Amino acid sequence: MTGFDAIVSRYEERTRKSREVFQEARQYLPRGVSSNFRVVDPNPIFIESAVGTTITDVDGNRYTDFAMAFGAMFVGHAHPKVVQAIEAQAKKGTLHAMPHRLEMSVAKELRKRFGQDQWRFSNSGTEATMHAIRLARGYTGRAKVVKFEGAYHGAHDTVLVSNKPPLRLTGLKSRPRRVVWSDGIPEESYAHTLVASFNDLDSVRGQFQANLNQVACLIVEPIMLNMGVTEPDPEFLPGLRALCDEYQALLIFDEVKTGLKIAPGGATEHYRVKPDITVLAKAIGGGMPLAAFGASAEIMEELNSLRVIHVGTYASNPVTLAAAEVTLKEVLTPEASKRAFDLNRKLVDGYAALIREHKLPCYANGVGSMGTINFKKDVIKNYRDWYTLDRKASHAWYLGMLNEGIIPQPPGPDEQWTISVQHTEADIEAHLKTFARVAPLLKSL
Ligand SMILES: Cc1ncc(COP(=O)(O)O)c(C=O)c1O
Repeated sequence: MTGFDAIVSRYEERTRKSREVFQEARQYLPRGVSSNFRVVDPNPIFIESAVGTTITDVDGNRYTDFAMAFGAMFVGHAHPKVVQAIEAQAKKGTLHAMPHRLEMSVAKELRKRFGQDQWRFSNSGTEATMHAIRLARGYTGRAKVVKFEGAYHGAHDTVLVSNKPPLRLTGLKSRPRRVVWSDGIPEESYAHTLVASFNDLDSVRGQFQANLNQVACLIVEPIMLNMGVTEPDPEFLPGLRALCDEYQALLIFDEVKTGLKIAPGGATEHYRVKPDITVLAKAIGGGMPLAAFGASAEIMEELNSLRVIHVGTYASNPVTLAAAEVTLKEVLTPEASKRAFDLNRKLVDGYAALIREHKLPCYANGVGSMGTINFKKDVIKNYRDWYTLDRKASHAWYLGMLNEGIIPQPPGPDEQWTISVQHTEADIEAHLKTFARVAPLLKSL
């Protein structure tokens, strides 16, 4: 039996009940899950409860969770203040689909943090990036959208392009070919999507030049957090700002993951670059399904005048907004966030030391509350670098850590861990001690 098989076999033994539920679930849910991102080989674990930083599965295994719902749970699970706000609001009504004062309260807080005058709320990152792009197209009267190879901005047709394409289909790095991710998307639906390479300003300029006066917006995740933790070079985001100004396209920051989790005011604060439209989701809802997009009053005049449509029955439902209000004002305070960032630094540094000690061909990287091991020796700058990382080692790390009671991050080398405001020094020490046991296994897979 190989080292890898031994890890899988132990995992299968520990997750027998999950496997049984999985087999049954497959009869009712394709692949047994409700989102493709939850597929795990040989089977996912099925969850009974998530409280604080502890997750319990149906086999009774307890884990310290660092996946934190793909980073959405920066507040930690079942935070008492968030639970209380949800309970109190639920008693006053869960949904009336009419205006209420919480919307303004949360919008005010977002304006303070992100500097955008006005906001609209949606339920998911997918919806919010879709609306942000429509707003940019309405405002500019142009159709084309530039996105980066490897970036994920949600599951709508315009952006489900070149997310994780096989390298043989991608063409030149200076002008990546658009590769649609899913069947069921007609070519017409993504014909206006253009693809550039992250950390490569020339590839962006090339697309603007080749499509003069046609590009409505460029959408970028300021740190590529669907490629581990791939940071922008220092000149990259200012360079994008300048190019968008030069070619009169709007700059959209997709801060679904970075918002709140690298600074209280997200990438705008961290990198001091202001986009035209900011998109938020995940952490702002404190665990409830909330997204938002914000822009200047001038750009939002498109919505104000009703020229651009934004609607939604569940948009800004009061339970979600009550959770968001307490999350922003009382839980994810600048002090609590800084504490989580400091703990994350300890975890990243601890990983780096253990990687050195065990001479593993990979590196740890982190920003704010997020981090990961990039299973590659050289620093990843773009999708093509990321593509060739060691997926087997990454999966062995993931399952190996689960075997020892730590969920190190969401499944897959695309992802990263999140240190929530409920994690403690003891959680970080336990994580590192566990990695010290798993690291030697990664040498002989
Ligand atoms: C950067 C980014 N944008 C958008 C989305 C889509 O958000 P949602 O899953 O809420 O639709 C995600 C989800 O992971 C994301 O990471």
